[in-house]
Amino acid sequence: MNIKKVRLLIFAAGLSVIFTWARAETTVPEIEALLDRLSLEEKAGQLTLIPIEGEPTQEHIQMIRDGKVGSAIKAHGAANNLKLQQVAVEESKSGIPILFQEDVIHGYNTVTPVPLAEAASWDMAAIKESAAAAAREASAAGIQLTYAPMVDISRDPRWGRILEAAGEDPYLGALVAAARVKGFQEGNEDPNQNLLATVKHFAGYGASLAGRDYNIRDIAERELREIHLPPFQAAINAGVSSVMGAYTAYDGIPATAHTQLMRKILRDEMGFDGVLITDWETIPNLIRTGVAANDLDAAQMAIETGFDIDMTSQRYVKFLPQLVRQGRLPEKLVDDAVRRVLLLKRKAGLLGAPYARFKPEREAEQFLSAQNWAAAKDIALKSIVLLKNEKQTLPVSTEVKTIAVIGPYAKNQRALLGWWSGRGSPEDVISIYDGLKAEFASNVSFSFAEGVKVERFEKAGAELIPKAVDIASSADLVVMVLGEDHWMSGEGGGTASLHLPGLQEKLVATIAEKTDTPIVSVVVSGRPYVLTEVARHSDALVQAWMPGTTGGEAVAEVLSGKYNPSGKLPVTFPYHQGQIPIFYNYKKTSHPFDAGPDDNRYTTSYRDVPTTPLYPFGYGLSYTTFDYGEIKLSSNDLSMDGEIKASIKVTNSGDFEGREIVQLYLHDRVASVTRPFKELKGFALLDLKPGESQTASFTITADTLAFIGRDLQSTIEPGDFDLYIGRSSADYKAASFTLVQ
Ligand code: BGC
Repeated sequence: MNIKKVRLLIFAAGLSVIFTWARAETTVPEIEALLDRLSLEEKAGQLTLIPIEGEPTQEHIQMIRDGKVGSAIKAHGAANNLKLQQVAVEESKSGIPILFQEDVIHGYNTVTPVPLAEAASWDMAAIKESAAAAAREASAAGIQLTYAPMVDISRDPRWGRILEAAGEDPYLGALVAAARVKGFQEGNEDPNQNLLATVKHFAGYGASLAGRDYNIRDIAERELREIHLPPFQAAINAGVSSVMGAYTAYDGIPATAHTQLMRKILRDEMGFDGVLITDWETIPNLIRTGVAANDLDAAQMAIETGFDIDMTSQRYVKFLPQLVRQGRLPEKLVDDAVRRVLLLKRKAGLLGAPYARFKPEREAEQFLSAQNWAAAKDIALKSIVLLKNEKQTLPVSTEVKTIAVIGPYAKNQRALLGWWSGRGSPEDVISIYDGLKAEFASNVSFSFAEGVKVERFEKAGAELIPKAVDIASSADLVVMVLGEDHWMSGEGGGTASLHLPGLQEKLVATIAEKTDTPIVSVVVSGRPYVLTEVARHSDALVQAWMPGTTGGEAVAEVLSGKYNPSGKLPVTFPYHQGQIPIFYNYKKTSHPFDAGPDDNRYTTSYRDVPTTPLYPFGYGLSYTTFDYGEIKLSSNDLSMDGEIKASIKVTNSGDFEGREIVQLYLHDRVASVTRPFKELKGFALLDLKPGESQTASFTITADTLAFIGRDLQSTIEPGDFDLYIGRSSADYKAASFTLVQ
């Protein structure tokens, strides 16, 4: 087989440019002068990040005065951080400002939808603007660096952190990663309103076994490169300022001690030249996982691995000077790390103008401003996914005069914010119940019942069901608001069950059984739940995710039809929890996936439940219908240095204006390694008026067909390819072409 490695060469050429630039940057005279002035202890201090939560203590202040603090987390408020900054600048010997860092994950005061939800919009401009809005608010609160975007690909919705990234696909994940980095770092004209971004967690954290957080996992280097690295590469290409290491081990070596991963792959191969930061306490974790015997060894391992900032453990400030003095560590390693941290502070605009970013009056201007509210609402609308809509139950007809709103999340404000809610306040959240009342106010009367209780995971509140049935029977429409609480997903939010917690399934089943009233179920969650039963008993089903501060308005506008839903799933929704992990870009196996008419038992499937999901990746309905024409290819042959165009005409054949997300997938028929049945390679957002047609066009080059070959390098192999364009990973038109030598 003739294998071509053009891409690798181009990549290598790109790297040399990056390194030349990095060398030029590292000798910035201002930085070298600062470095020369620092004692070993002060250098270790620059590499130290401490939490300062609430009112700073005398101990905090003294540490800053003594030059033992380079960065702080959990300190916020422009006035508060200004005071701390004054101590660093005016009372410490080096006078180097502190870099204030924080988890600004999806919004800050105005909380935007969880990142998994945002990815369902497939709208990079809206995602970028959402990050820019978060940056406006957080920067006004005296923060300069965010620990976002998280880009960990996950195929296991039991893992609570699945809500924090863009889902299961590396291509979509890479685009979202780049959009979020650009939004945080460059989304606002005034650089003081931007945040430095941190891509995390390097690498493969999302593959934690069995959905348990921080768990072991065992992925091959091929999977690391094919699935987990692309979003990191995209973030690096977009100029991300820092990278955070994972809690987890890769190939048996904790990320904090994985020199090959951090130095060879991240820095040499992927071209990252910014700051590498540990996760919370991951240096002493080296002792807990049994790869370091004591703190001294752990600190040595982390700095040798290339970690520049020690998050919260204070092992660097306590042990690096000693390690250097004992001759166990070359001071140069410490200097390199300090240099990168100082460059980061310079990039944050702190050197030279240490107070410019701390203006208390900006907080009031920015927090929940009309502009930020609009950005949050726009992405909330675009992220909602319509999963089922029978008998045109939605949008709510003008004939509906009474709506029974039922469910534990209808009036819940906190759940809509999700786990990482910045400084967002539940009181500012428009609940779904309030959103509906405001949207339909003059025409519809509302009743409400909680239906069941979801306090923990136990099946509580059965006694509430009869009241819910009662109000449902006398209403024209039931809107069920089901889901999970903010603490049930997010970090440490692993769940073994993917059924809606408590008696929620029973609630919807009972109402369906005992009344004839049409049911619209709205699901508030940070993960895909197994919605098979809920879907069975609902006439319409809406995945609202954790939609943020504006969520209630957004859901109401989708239900009323003011906004025609356009989101498509960035993650597969399983039919049964035993199917986990289930994802669309599965690789071909020796046996069929389908038992076929002869009920073949020798298949890669189950005897008891289907192999297919409830809702596939890329799926999402609209109130209108979109007709797809046939695929047109500019040629059936693609040369190594040429391109072909694939296009398809899409017509809005329904009555509503709407957006269709047209998706392109490719399948490599024969290759030197097993390849997926299909892989997303492009998409187009078409906004179409009723009756209007537009053509979605995609350009395919040999590069589009690159994959990780047998030698774990990017490679391109000639041969036949199938090309699919359609509404989801399971519903498309097909064509084929040949990559010729
Ligand atoms: C998480 C990180 C987060 C850090 C700081 C850790 O537990 O894994 O994602 O940025 O805490 O809050």
